[in-house]
Amino acid sequence: MKIISVVGARPQFVKLAPIHHAAKAAGVEHVIVHTGQHYDPMLSDVFFEDLGIGTPDVHLGVGSGSHGVQTGAMLSALDAVFDEHRPDWVLVYGDTNSTVAAALSAVKMHIPVAHLEAGLRSFNRRMPEEHNRVMTDHAADLLLAPTQVAVEHLEREGLGERTVLVGDVMTDVLFDVRDRVAGRTSTLLAEFGLGEGAYYLATIHRAENTDDPARLAQVVSALAGLDKPVILLAHPRVVAKAAAHGIDLTQGSLRARAPLAYPDLIAAAAASAGVVTDSGGLQKEAFLLRVPCTTVRTETEWVETIDLGWNVLANTAEEIAAGVTRPRPSATDVAPYGDGHAAERVIAVLSERA
Ligand code: UD1
Repeated sequence: MKIISVVGARPQFVKLAPIHHAAKAAGVEHVIVHTGQHYDPMLSDVFFEDLGIGTPDVHLGVGSGSHGVQTGAMLSALDAVFDEHRPDWVLVYGDTNSTVAAALSAVKMHIPVAHLEAGLRSFNRRMPEEHNRVMTDHAADLLLAPTQVAVEHLEREGLGERTVLVGDVMTDVLFDVRDRVAGRTSTLLAEFGLGEGAYYLATIHRAENTDDPARLAQVVSALAGLDKPVILLAHPRVVAKAAAHGIDLTQGSLRARAPLAYPDLIAAAAASAGVVTDSGGLQKEAFLLRVPCTTVRTETEWVETIDLGWNVLANTAEEIAAGVTRPRPSATDVAPYGDGHAAERVIAVLSERA
């Protein structure tokens, strides 16, 4: 069996790692195509190195652009790649422009498409990711759902017959990396002169929080006003938007620095007093590490983290301050994201149906 994985953005490299390892272990031919959506070394290369993925087989070098320009460039480059390799499956990940481009190109070439992390919904049509997810799920032949809630969304949309619950592959990676960094002191402690549990770890990058200068200023000032130092791992998008609008990302409690490599990120989150984020992955990673999370959004796809009390939604400065200072949530052994073996299940399902 031959699978082509198409990835392009940081969270997809994390999801790719366990799939690549499971494919190799099963003797499956696995071709990795990197669209080039993310190209900064700290958003791309370090994940391939740290997570043992090697280098992509094909790199499209598409880079940044408006949604149409970026997605269109990927589409026109992918046809030739799929034609050359003629895989049994094209595997697409999550909800980025790279996901929808690969699904559309493959389905039009009559190559079976499997969507990993299918069925997540925010029901917020202002999010580019929501369109990417819905369109990819409806185009794909096989929907690999991470949670029971995702399965139910797909059933409601009439896609139940194409759906298989496999669990969450980010959990596979998190468990592995958590064990690898256990006992390691986070590099942030020395860098900022902080003690363990004496800071919040923040990431903000979504269009809804960064594109409107007034909204970005509101989020930055909320973080700057918190009761402990806040280390912002600043994605290039937030750095660019803040610079364009004259917003200082280091003010009050807030200190910005470049994104961290994945093992350092996990060590830094584990040692923090709490995570403040609009990232999907980090909400779940915080839950799996049992670190309280405050999510700067009006909704989340990972509703289980909210139901279990480890995550709260917060938008205003008051809500964010209340979120980070809330009492520690109750301990839980509930495992809505699976057992850390989702990737093996994905490869087994793809092999059965090749
Ligand atoms: C993309 C995904 C988002 C995901 C995020 C993870 C879409 C629509 N969005 O958002 O779902 O959560 O990746 O990080 O696909 N830039 C750089 N260097 C890079 C990449 C981007 O400087 O390597 C800057 C550019 O100014 C670019 C901007 O960031 O225009 C936005 O990048 P883009 O890839 O369009 O979306 P993300 O915000 O990264």
